[in-house]
Amino acid sequence: MMSASIPSEQIVALLQWYADMGVDVAIGDEPVDRFAESAQAAPSPIPSPVRSAPEPEPSRRTASATAQPRMASPAPTMLTTSPDAVELAAREQARSARTLEELRDLLERFDGCALKATASRLVFADGAPDARVMFVGEAPGRDEDIQGKPFVGRSGQLLDRMLAAVGLDRTKAYIANIVPWRPPGNRDPTPQETTICRPFIERQIELVAPKVLVCLGARSAQALLGVTDGILKLRGRWLDYELSGQRIRAIATLHPAYLLRQPVQKRLAWRDFRAIRTVLEQDAP
Ligand code: URA
Repeated sequence: MMSASIPSEQIVALLQWYADMGVDVAIGDEPVDRFAESAQAAPSPIPSPVRSAPEPEPSRRTASATAQPRMASPAPTMLTTSPDAVELAAREQARSARTLEELRDLLERFDGCALKATASRLVFADGAPDARVMFVGEAPGRDEDIQGKPFVGRSGQLLDRMLAAVGLDRTKAYIANIVPWRPPGNRDPTPQETTICRPFIERQIELVAPKVLVCLGARSAQALLGVTDGILKLRGRWLDYELSGQRIRAIATLHPAYLLRQPVQKRLAWRDFRAIRTVLEQDAP
């Protein structure tokens, strides 16, 4: 707990440091003093002067104490089941959704992915459910977590400009992510989180049934297309995405967040977007 005697500029500096380190979400309403907890949990000291075994290092003790669940509310029951069982449950639930609304509803109630506990809300999708082109990113960031819509932050604004450059906008495209909850501090989703969420995005693709699927970034392509190459090798290559008998043309391109960091690579993305436009035009109803 922060003492009132700490000068406000030190508190501001500490919060800034937390934010810089990626700690920008509160996962409980009340602060928890982990040092007091670990002191209580520590084994009672063996009377000195003779100690038969060295005491565990303080940092180790703190780490094991912080490894305990920290949610203010009880952990959802599914988190206690094995990852395989959660994946199976995810697959069965996703398959049972007959519409996008049902799928969204199922995800709102799905407790198998720990990211739900730290995210503010579900970020399901944006755009037109009957779109002929679907874009799939990796995971929501801070702005998406606040607004509940994918790609609304800086990379989303760039994505909108890229869409506009080929005559598309969110009334003609459908946008979602592999993982629909923001990983805390914008860390990468773990392989396990991706595996658990994948059945839902697969079902989402199946229900939208776009003509063209665009994977934004390597992680999206790797999760959906079963490829392992890096994005610079993968991008711009047309692949077939097959799901329950549907064949969808799929392509990976550079993630807008990467383009914000490497603007010189926009020319490659521009090439991919023109290829996407050509395929959509050829296939126009
Ligand atoms: N990056 C993503 O992959 N998805 C979003 O929704 C926003 C940023």
